Amino acid sequence: MTVRRLAASAYAPLGRVHPRVSRVGFGGYRVDDRSDVHREALREALVAGVSLVDTSTNYADGHSEILVGEVVRDVVARGAARREDLVLVTKAGYVQGSNQREAQRRARAGTPWSEMTTYAPDCWHCISPDFLRDQLTASLGRLAMPKVDVFLLHNPEYFLTDAAHRGVPRDDAREAFYDRLARAFRHLEAETAAGRIGAYGVSSNTFVVPHDKDDAVSLERVLASAGPGFAVVQLPFNPLEIGAKEAVHTADGRSVLDVAKSAGLGVLVNRPLNAFSGRGLVRFAALQPDVLRELGHAAEWDAERMKPLMSYLDAEFGSAPNAGATHDATLAQRTLRALLATPGVDVALVGMRRPAYVRDVLGAFA
Ligand SMILES: NC(=O)c1ccc[n+]([C@@H]2O[C@H](COP(=O)([O-])OP(=O)(O)OC[C@H]3O[C@@H](n4cnc5c(N)ncnc54)[C@H](OP(=O)(O)O)[C@@H]3O)[C@@H](O)[C@H]2O)c1
Repeated sequence: MTVRRLAASAYAPLGRVHPRVSRVGFGGYRVDDRSDVHREALREALVAGVSLVDTSTNYADGHSEILVGEVVRDVVARGAARREDLVLVTKAGYVQGSNQREAQRRARAGTPWSEMTTYAPDCWHCISPDFLRDQLTASLGRLAMPKVDVFLLHNPEYFLTDAAHRGVPRDDAREAFYDRLARAFRHLEAETAAGRIGAYGVSSNTFVVPHDKDDAVSLERVLASAGPGFAVVQLPFNPLEIGAKEAVHTADGRSVLDVAKSAGLGVLVNRPLNAFSGRGLVRFAALQPDVLRELGHAAEWDAERMKPLMSYLDAEFGSAPNAGATHDATLAQRTLRALLATPGVDVALVGMRRPAYVRDVLGAFA
């Protein structure tokens, strides 16, 4: 099947990282090289011109990185995309699954990774330089590439949450946290100089909480410890979780998006369609026909479900982003247009792990 290429309006610069990336990126959470459907979805996205892919060491226990490496290399080899046009992002910090077994093996052998946060029995976390060096080597091995364009610390706030649970005074926890970050950044500067990464940054769910919360990560303080290679942040942003744009992240009343923009950073937003409210998950996308059938609902049921979400979007974000939209733009398309019209947001990472999702999402730029 012929894949329709993205329009020029679907691209923008990503801070200092790249002059031109697609404003929707392929989100690699829950994709796996053992799934033909995920492989085809990523291939179709890349062939259509999606030029940013986000993955992590812990997504599908490394199988997401394997899929990304295989599909990117194949698409580039076939001439359907150029490697230099693509921005591949991976992250490290989680110690789960096979990574956790390796951490336990090292501990038994008397050579543990240093500064491990044993947050929960099945979820440890670490950002020490020795750990990051190993993780990057493992990621490059799975991607089968000599370099990754962007390397992010993945949710380093686990350290703060853990310290709060253990009753560590907030200021002490913060001192130790920013000291760890500074050492991680010095290591990532060295990796940048060595050519194994193009740039680095931080992905944090608590960039978006008010600055006086125990687990808040302050982008201002992060930047004070960072070197010139620090170029990207990632944070959650969707129609119900709009913390990123609220002016509560600095003592002088600025938002994390303001701080990121004044520092010239690239901003990636995650979970754009998966919104959590007090009452649970609200998905800002239509259900696919097979899912509807499985749930025993008709298409009309889904259309009714979407009406209040569409009205909410117009009320919260204004109808301007949808001004050029055709009458029948889907809920996912409207949502992505609204989020991407928010000043400071560069790229929305979408979990488009089926070809039908890719076509729907890319239709936002039709
Ligand atoms: N740094 C972090 O801590 C963090 C956290 C979360 C996400 N992320 C990144 O952000 C990316 C996006 O987040 P996400 O995948 O959790 O959430 P999302 O993009 O908001 O999508 C949520 C789910 O919606 C469904 N979907 C996607 N496109 C659709 C469409 N067009 N129509 C109908 N359903 C659609 C998929 O569900 P099904 O496949 O189940 O049907 C998808 O998994 C991730 O893949 C990851 O790269 C990072």
